[in-house]
Amino acid sequence: MFAKISARYDLLNHLLSGNMDKRWRRLVASELRSDLESGEAQVLDVACGTGDLALTLFESTDARVVGTDFCRPMLELAARKASKLEAAISFVEGDALSLPFRDGLFDGVTIAFGLRNLSSTDGGLRELLRVLKPGGKAAVLEFSKPIVPGFRAAFQFYFTTMLPWLGGIVVGREARTSICLIRFQDSGSETARRADARGWV
Ligand SMILES: C[S@@+](CC[C@H](N)C(=O)[O-])C[C@H]1O[C@@H](n2cnc3c(N)ncnc32)[C@H](O)[C@@H]1O
Repeated sequence: MFAKISARYDLLNHLLSGNMDKRWRRLVASELRSDLESGEAQVLDVACGTGDLALTLFESTDARVVGTDFCRPMLELAARKASKLEAAISFVEGDALSLPFRDGLFDGVTIAFGLRNLSSTDGGLRELLRVLKPGGKAAVLEFSKPIVPGFRAAFQFYFTTMLPWLGGIVVGREARTSICLIRFQDSGSETARRADARGWV
């Protein structure tokens, strides 16, 4: 499904988030910046898609940046974008549930809007931690449900009704079914709860 929507993925992302996604990625990069000050540092962006977070990490830190994703068309777009911006980022094809990197290689790892797409959230978190150096920092960017009642209902309506409809218009009828199927769950807070229960935070 990501291969099908790759060409319009960036447009969809910026449109559906009201361009907020750029700000959220900058926040992630700023959370990791102090851990990535040395030129020797390495950071991995998992499920990197078209590379926007990898590029933000490249622009905001001194670390060597690696992006990985299992969808080749997404990676090709990411590599094209990076080369246009003369950003020396390595893009590696790989499954987030079995990352092609050795234990403890990275000073920082990130995943943006990717965990909710994995068949196992725990498996994804385990892999992020496996490739992270002891003392390194992992950042997960995900949606969660607002807790204020009126806003929560409006948010739910937007995500379960408006967003699949708008997404269908941008990427086409075929992808609309998939967007409905991956309807956004409460993965942000659920992820935090799971990580907390396992002593990962
Ligand atoms: C919603 S996009 C997010 C892309 C990017 N991180 C961003 O912030 O725009 C989800 C990405 O996760 C990737 N993905 C889903 N499951 C994966 C897996 N098991 N291993 C690697 N990548 C995966 C998809 O190919 C897609 O590029």
